[in-house]
Amino acid sequence: MFTPDTLREKTFLVTGGGSGLGRAMALGFARAGAKVAVLGRRPEPLQETVAAIQALGGVAAWASADVRDPASVAAAVDSLEAELGPINGLVNNAAGNFLSPSEELSPNAFNSVVQIVLYGTFHTTQELGRRWIERKTGGVILSIVTTYAWMGSAFVLPSAAAKAGVLAMARSLAVEWAHYNIRCNAIAPGPFPTEGAFSRLMMPGAQEEALNHIPLRRFGKPEELADLATYMMSDMASFMTGECVVIDGGEWLYSGQEFGHIAGYDREMVKQFMAAMRPSKKG
Ligand code: COA
Repeated sequence: MFTPDTLREKTFLVTGGGSGLGRAMALGFARAGAKVAVLGRRPEPLQETVAAIQALGGVAAWASADVRDPASVAAAVDSLEAELGPINGLVNNAAGNFLSPSEELSPNAFNSVVQIVLYGTFHTTQELGRRWIERKTGGVILSIVTTYAWMGSAFVLPSAAAKAGVLAMARSLAVEWAHYNIRCNAIAPGPFPTEGAFSRLMMPGAQEEALNHIPLRRFGKPEELADLATYMMSDMASFMTGECVVIDGGEWLYSGQEFGHIAGYDREMVKQFMAAMRPSKKG
């Protein structure tokens, strides 16, 4: 679908680009011809992502920063732009999350997730947005949210509250910053088996049950999310702004559908039951 010049002349920054979905997007962007900057807290995974991109023949750089700290974000963007040239796209992927009964959350536990997800997204978005407005170049922002950003979810309250805010931020800025030719979109992934997410969010033995809630009966592949992100970050999507695209194998719709569970039963049996329930024609 994409060629090595799909993202020619693009330089994208991926927060949390050292691991999981951030790493997959960073590699996907590089394969499509973008220069890629990755930012995160720990140097080692960032260095590994950069090495993997360079092994593909791509151009990449890393900088260590905590998205909760706007000064460290600004310094990291300065150093990445010094190395790669002006950044013209941002993916807000860095996140924090864990399962917890809400009544047991300490103020600091709530704060740590909201600071990473909501404040962190604001800090990176404002840092890049200000640069693009000043330079009059336009730009593109993609924020990774979740399907519970609009429904909420039990046991991940700080993340649900913060992701809802990130979605509101993307939609707000889509209108406000269209004036500066800055597009703002979001992707809402369902379950993708990355170490960071599954080690924190998948209870032992819960994978089989989780699959039963996904009509396509499998988890997502990171490359599938990377392909969607590549499209949304590219000029092919230049009329798309304020959009949130779900990629979850049908999971969130299934969870709200009255009769959706029937789709998981043996289809021949279902057809026989339905035929048997049908009133016979009179006369
Ligand atoms: N349940 C309840 N509270 C928890 C918790 C859990 N599983 N994990 C951490 N906390 C609490 C800590 O106890 C602490 O609160 P306290 O000071 O009142 O004791 C607070 O959260 C901050 O924890 P700390 O480990 O000091 O924060 P951190 O800034 O180093 O880490 C997290 C932030 C907690 C979000 C950590 O999970 C993280 O770094 N995550 C990044 C990666 C990630 O979550 N990826 C998944 C994305 S889907």
